[in-house]
Amino acid sequence: MGAGIAQLAAQSGARTLLHDPIGDALECGLESIRAALARSAERGRLAPDDADAAAGRLEAAPSIDALADCELVIEAAPERLELKHELFGALESIVSERCVLATNTSSLPIAALAGVCARPQRVVGMHFFNPAPVMRLLEVVAGPDSDAVALELARATGRAMARHVIDAADGPGFLVNRCNRPFGLEALRLVSERIAEPEQVDRICRVGGGFRMGPFELMDLVGIDTGLEVARSFFAQSFGEPRWRPSPLTARMVAAGRLGRKTGRGFYDYRGGPHRPEDPELPAGGGGGAGPLAIIGGGVHAEALRAGAGAAGWTLADPERTSEEPAWLVVDCVGGALEDDAAWQSGPRVVLCAEGSLGMLDPAGSAVGFYTLPSSGLVELTRTQTSSALASQRAVEFFGSLGRLAEWVGDAPGLVLGRIVCQLANEAAFAVGEGIGTPADVDAGMRLGLNHPVGPLARADALGLDHVLELLEGLGEEYREERYRPAPLLRRHVLAGRLGESTGAGFHDPTPSAG
Ligand SMILES: NC(=O)c1ccc[n+]([C@@H]2O[C@H](COP(=O)([O-])OP(=O)(O)OC[C@H]3O[C@@H](n4cnc5c(N)ncnc54)[C@H](O)[C@@H]3O)[C@@H](O)[C@H]2O)c1
Repeated sequence: MGAGIAQLAAQSGARTLLHDPIGDALECGLESIRAALARSAERGRLAPDDADAAAGRLEAAPSIDALADCELVIEAAPERLELKHELFGALESIVSERCVLATNTSSLPIAALAGVCARPQRVVGMHFFNPAPVMRLLEVVAGPDSDAVALELARATGRAMARHVIDAADGPGFLVNRCNRPFGLEALRLVSERIAEPEQVDRICRVGGGFRMGPFELMDLVGIDTGLEVARSFFAQSFGEPRWRPSPLTARMVAAGRLGRKTGRGFYDYRGGPHRPEDPELPAGGGGGAGPLAIIGGGVHAEALRAGAGAAGWTLADPERTSEEPAWLVVDCVGGALEDDAAWQSGPRVVLCAEGSLGMLDPAGSAVGFYTLPSSGLVELTRTQTSSALASQRAVEFFGSLGRLAEWVGDAPGLVLGRIVCQLANEAAFAVGEGIGTPADVDAGMRLGLNHPVGPLARADALGLDHVLELLEGLGEEYREERYRPAPLLRRHVLAGRLGESTGAGFHDPTPSAG
């Protein structure tokens, strides 16, 4: 990380000193920066003169004493508290009063680093994302005593490095890594409950959610042991927040030595080469028309499915006309019991699993359950022992006509993606409610720091905050665990009628388009 940050500093026009007590590491860092600058020039991303000038601003500092004149020191030493304490102590005895001390720590509280400093007001977090020259985000973290001058120098430095700067308060994972907790932890729960296999969860996240990588691919890349350490740290720092409880599944993987790519085996096997999942082609879509089709409900899901069904050539039944023949398929986006017993209702039924699981919404019934994001290339389907074969077959056919790939998973409110997306929104709502960051910074942070396709709060605004709340309440009802309690801010927005895009205000005001 240190080399990447130094590269950004040199490119920003600053005289940049790189210090590492290990001589080889220092040389290796300088070499990697020079090579990266040369590569950028070769690829036309940087003018050759600018690359040379940046390389010219870099200096090796084999001794920490060489940092005496620095206005800002950014430490990216190994993530060990005692080591960083020593480093900050040494720095304070060398640098001037005005020098700002920044840490790139991902997981240590800024308070714990500033606490040992004589001038804690000059200590701030400057949290870059890996690889620093590529990821456009800088999270500036205020410790309890950080003063405005120190914070503004950190922000200005980030802007000069062409990073998008967001602000975060101190706390486990600051803003971005905290808001991403459910991506891995919910995925682990889904697999532990046998609702889906790791490769299914990853495929659903990629194809259905637009994520570049699924959570299990990511865990294997980062290292399952590293992930478990981070999880333990969140749990310990929060004194046992149920949403952050580490997964016993990862503990078992670590005990078995299956740490991910680095040991050749994690959730995937790399011993025969890299894991390169080929996502299946999406159905071509179209070819509807065997109807009539009944789509029940008024939310974004029902509207998107109606529009898709119209485009695919389906005839939509009029739910008001009780004399209709049985529908070819009833697509129920409400999930409750239907009010009358009109003939069309006796057709095979597929129910949106948001407020509850299929087992809760249609106990011992013949329906099939589904969850999909309004504009998605994938639909998740679920069935119970009593679901009818006809409903299963027609659900696949209907969603195929909308160009959506069907993935069969186990039963739960929100199935896989609904549960992950709503828990991401919920965590972000807790963070905003606790003053860790603003909605705009959450969304920018998740997109630019972690490559999420859309920010979790913009996604919630697009889905409807009422939908997100219902789904979380469904999970709460199903599991009776505090883990699924909705964030107070989410509930307050819903009560105030701030439902997202449909009402013009939600987490964002006005709501931007989720794209
Ligand atoms: N790797 C990531 O994805 C990532 C992302 C964001 C933040 N961070 C944070 O950045 C920091 C470094 O992480 P990393 O992955 O680059 O670690 P790393 O182990 O790859 O590199 C640490 C470097 O620090 C050097 N070092 C050791 N003692 C030092 C000292 N006293 N003074 C200066 N340098 C010293 C080491 O020789 C090594 O070159 C950690 O605080 C980590 O939390 C890492």
